Amino acid sequence: MNFFAYQNGRLFAEDVAVHDIAQRHGTPTYVYSRAALEHRWRDLDSAFGSHPHTICYAVKANSNLAVLNVLARLGSGFDIVSQGELHRVLQAGGDPSKVVFSGVAKSEAELRYALEKGVRSINIESLAELDRVQDVASQLGVRAAIAFRVNPDVDPQTHPYISTGLEENKFGVRMDAAFEAYQRAASLPNIEVHGIACHIGSQITKTSPFSDALERVLDLVERLADNGIALQQLDLGGGLGIDYQGETPPTAQEYVGAMLNGIKARGISLPIAIEPGRYIAGNAGILLTRVEYLKQNASKQFAIVDAGMNDLLRPSLYQAYHDIINASNHSEPSQVLDVVGPVCESADVLGYERTLAVKAGDLLAVQSAGAYGFVMANNYNTRRRPAEVMVDGNVAHLVRERETLQQLTAGESILD
Ligand code: LLP
Repeated sequence: MNFFAYQNGRLFAEDVAVHDIAQRHGTPTYVYSRAALEHRWRDLDSAFGSHPHTICYAVKANSNLAVLNVLARLGSGFDIVSQGELHRVLQAGGDPSKVVFSGVAKSEAELRYALEKGVRSINIESLAELDRVQDVASQLGVRAAIAFRVNPDVDPQTHPYISTGLEENKFGVRMDAAFEAYQRAASLPNIEVHGIACHIGSQITKTSPFSDALERVLDLVERLADNGIALQQLDLGGGLGIDYQGETPPTAQEYVGAMLNGIKARGISLPIAIEPGRYIAGNAGILLTRVEYLKQNASKQFAIVDAGMNDLLRPSLYQAYHDIINASNHSEPSQVLDVVGPVCESADVLGYERTLAVKAGDLLAVQSAGAYGFVMANNYNTRRRPAEVMVDGNVAHLVRERETLQQLTAGESILD
């Protein structure tokens, strides 16, 4: 299903013409579709059938309060990696008892906050962190439910910057050390061993890396059970890829099906949690940007637009491909051009050598920008971060105002 489609030659987000959004709120602006978010969440949810599960949406992918709230209303859980993300989840009406807390560097303050709010699981990434959780839980007089995030050393076959499950990555507890880690955890007074967690990377477009990781995790689950450590949740992380450029990632059915088959084959029936981010938000958002100028140099033609690498970092950071379309499906002759932003860096390119029918003043839509878009935006070149709009049927809600000039310098001061 496509929630961003042309009607009479103009691009719509659900039932709203994106031109109207640009007119009202300016550009660059992120536009999300509520229906698209819900559709993707439900796809995963229904794929589990009657198997007990929790979808813990990875807040880092898109943490706008309206996005979190739409998912919370569906009953979603959340995967967080900071105190700030938990704060957002709570503000958006999320249920802390469905929250898992991942991340390699949780501070004492963050752990205290998470334990006070009652998250479901602290996903621990090292023995040093286990000691810290024990200390903080003991100070608070509570028992902390934990999982170890294990590193299964599986190649997710994705971009190296978004691989996390290889031995060389900083993430997780090594598989061969995990058994002892669980034994130690089980002996600590303020720790309750709750589950096991694993996340191997992002934008994964095959089921095999997930299945391989699952097999290794289940080996450990069985060994632990044989030694009297019974787990209550299998958290299989996020990572399911999406179609940016014709990729054919597994469907929700195929992805969840592979996991359910994997556990059934071993006679295991543990509840499963997953931490999808991109799958839910990625194709539920676009970035609207206006063409400021067309420019020709000796060998290249450029469309210079008002969104830059500070607004959408993925193309510059990961050489990521985002399709770019003209919001008016008009019939200018097409030309091959680089779509570049205003930032003073040669890497500020949203798309190389795109074939577009375009003229100055046109509105463009950068596709698949709902995940890792706004959340990675920054103020480089003292640019204001974009506005965010969520469309719900025929209504466009401004869910984050464009930053103001005053906000840009708020909190700064000069010497007396
Ligand atoms: N769980 C954990 C522990 C993670 O580290 C991540 C992503 C996720 C879940 C969600 O993964 P997803 O389902 O979205 O693939 N900025 C990069 C992506 C970094 C992902 C980091 N971890 C990008 O723009 O491609």
